[in-house]
Amino acid sequence: MIGAQWGDEGKGKITDLLSNSADMVVRYQGGVNAGHTVVVKDQTFKLHLIPSGILYPETECIIGSGTVIDPKVLIQELDQLDRLGVSSKNLMISETAHVTMPYHRILDVAAEASRGDQKIGTTGRGIGPTYADKSERSGIRIVDLMDTESFKVQVRYCVANKNVILEKLYNLPPLDPEEVIVEYLAYADRLRPHVIDSSLKISQAVQKKRNILFEGAQGTLLDLDHGTYPYVTSSNPVSGGACVGAGVGPTIIDRVIGVAKAYTTRVGEGPFPTELDGDIGTLLCDRGAEFGTTTGRQRRCGWFDAVIGRYAVRINGLDCLAITKMDVLDTLDEIKVCVAYEIDGKRCNDFPTNAKAFARCVPIYQTVPGWKTSTEDCRALSDLPKQALDYLKFLAELMAVPIAIVSLGASRDQTIIVEDPIHGPKRALLYENGGLQQ
Ligand code: IMP
Repeated sequence: MIGAQWGDEGKGKITDLLSNSADMVVRYQGGVNAGHTVVVKDQTFKLHLIPSGILYPETECIIGSGTVIDPKVLIQELDQLDRLGVSSKNLMISETAHVTMPYHRILDVAAEASRGDQKIGTTGRGIGPTYADKSERSGIRIVDLMDTESFKVQVRYCVANKNVILEKLYNLPPLDPEEVIVEYLAYADRLRPHVIDSSLKISQAVQKKRNILFEGAQGTLLDLDHGTYPYVTSSNPVSGGACVGAGVGPTIIDRVIGVAKAYTTRVGEGPFPTELDGDIGTLLCDRGAEFGTTTGRQRRCGWFDAVIGRYAVRINGLDCLAITKMDVLDTLDEIKVCVAYEIDGKRCNDFPTNAKAFARCVPIYQTVPGWKTSTEDCRALSDLPKQALDYLKFLAELMAVPIAIVSLGASRDQTIIVEDPIHGPKRALLYENGGLQQ
């Protein structure tokens, strides 16, 4: 399951729903830049790293090898689950995931400040610097954190190097490696019981024909290779990232589910063709409670962009979509959908990979009528007002992909499952001959 836009598509709720049919949920990339809010029976869970599958007592949850782990935040999440009476006995952490260290967080914030008006708008959680060290082969992995003596040697070496950058480049105070060692070894003790060889564990589940859900964080347009570079995150949220980040071969993945909001949001800097500045943007933000779980930043809001949708279908090989936050559009008289772009006077149906061209895109809209009725209590497609159903059909047609799930509110029951994307027949029912079937 992947995000089909710029992240924050409501993946937490969809993972939570699909986890019901999954024996195992694997998070395969990203770190504590992600944030999931899941509401179950009036209890709100805010999770950054732990898959929301943890809320089902039988579901095994893995934080995979392609993730970067800030142990301090992970332990806060474990404490939160304890407080709310949720067991974390089924949580497993890959020993080859990389560890976010204090200098990564400091360097992330310092690099952003030095970029001035070229800033990326990162979450400031040290994600880019942790992945940079991984690529540069100077990162510290969970397996290293578990090995006390060699961890001490590594930290002393890394902190000495990073202190040069902190002091000389950014004019910041140096870190004391011994303090870092004491802090992190305490985390190590707490996390040790959860640490495993995750690729092996997943392959054993595959052999037993278990249902496994690979959960992407962020979204397609934030992908390091395929997103709106440089305004992206430092990992691969696209479906292909699941193989690398979980340590599995592509042949074991049966289907790919994309999650998209019924409109679009983006946090951080970078071009956003369908962004709305006026009253409708404010309405989407207010009704959709568009504030980040991780940073509390207000999200930029705009109309649904089907060019991005088609791109997400292509890059991820999507089998179906879950459309979330449909209820946010309930009060609108009319709704616009971006069907193509105009770039320098020419119509363009496909997402331009040239960042400068993307920044010049002017959306070509098609306007459809709103439904002006609450959809929050709809539980089947047949409960939806005609205009709402037409809107969904229109989106499915524009992207040539079936819609399997429609979400109309934060809680588990505010959902229409058109077809169970895990157990249901592949590519049946929902989108045939160019239309959404009922
Ligand atoms: P970083 O991942 O903190 O390096 O941030 C890079 C870009 O990705 C910024 O535009 C962030 O706002 C964005 N970003 C990172 N994580 C998320 C997320 O979970 N949801 C939405 N945007 C995110």
